[in-house]
Amino acid sequence: MAIKNVGVIGCGLMGSGIVQVAAQAGFDVLFVEADDALVTRGLERLRQTLEGLVAKGKLEAKAKDETLGRIAGTTRLEELKASDLVVEAMTENQVLKNETFAKLDRICPPHAILASNTSSCNVTAMAAATRRPGQVLGVHFFNPVPLMKLVEVVRTILTDEAAVKTVTEWARAVGKTPVQAKDSTAFIVNRLLVPYLLDAIRVYEGGLATLEDIDAAMKLGCGHPMGPFTLLDLVGLDTTMYVAEVMFEEFREPRYAPPPLLKRMVLAGHLGRKTGRGFYRYEGT
Ligand code: 3HC
Repeated sequence: MAIKNVGVIGCGLMGSGIVQVAAQAGFDVLFVEADDALVTRGLERLRQTLEGLVAKGKLEAKAKDETLGRIAGTTRLEELKASDLVVEAMTENQVLKNETFAKLDRICPPHAILASNTSSCNVTAMAAATRRPGQVLGVHFFNPVPLMKLVEVVRTILTDEAAVKTVTEWARAVGKTPVQAKDSTAFIVNRLLVPYLLDAIRVYEGGLATLEDIDAAMKLGCGHPMGPFTLLDLVGLDTTMYVAEVMFEEFREPRYAPPPLLKRMVLAGHLGRKTGRGFYRYEGT
């Protein structure tokens, strides 16, 4: 099946990256946000990002204009009625996602594939909320989406092979390297990454070393591009805690339980770069 029109639900951190890479790859993209102010903000963020790439000489001005011409935003889910593929990138809330998939099933054409960028919600539950469970799957991008090469294509026990093939090809078309995983909480990357990030917090809580030294140790000692606390601030402490809680709920292993400090930082609103403060402070955000 040829994909031309792509719908993206949510134009936040992940959603705007997905809109960007899809539009840059030549797909017509319509994103849906909760209100007019968020639609305007999403379009503005995309325009600024692309203009920044032009200013750095990484994108032609003409390509920027063409890319922006392929992007539109709306507040109405019903406008996704011409989509061949919808990628849901809302906040991590299973009930909301199930409801959205049931609505999309009624709105989208019968051939459309409904995909979720979830990192931890149950894709099988989303599929079961539709009358097309064979065409529902996970398509998990990584933050920052335009720079990270990987996409996890996640199949449930209900997913048709044809849908996996189409989405795998689409992931390649938007410049990513797809890997395939089964619908098991946290898939491949977060299953391995989240316990590491939680351990870093525990080590810091225990007073072993400073944040800066733990980050430097993992960067310079292991060749990681970022230390764990810089990465936690990038991903978002709320997102990390949510993923950890879902993993703990699913597997009941103490190593997935969010450490006390993480919980308190989230309660304090120190969510990372997006709030200007996480483990580190960020000026001018
Ligand atoms: N589109 C295209 N290019 C962009 C861009 C965009 N939106 N934003 C920035 N760039 C370009 C910049 O212009 C820059 O180009 P230049 O080097 O020519 O100036 C280039 O990308 C790199 O920018 P930075 O200088 O910011 O990049 P760094 O070299 O510092 O690398 C990084 C940044 C790629 C984020 C690297 O630090 C890294 O790989 N960190 C680890 C990130 C990671 O692990 N992510 C996964 C998190 S887990 C997750 O997402 C799962 C979820 O479910 C929780």
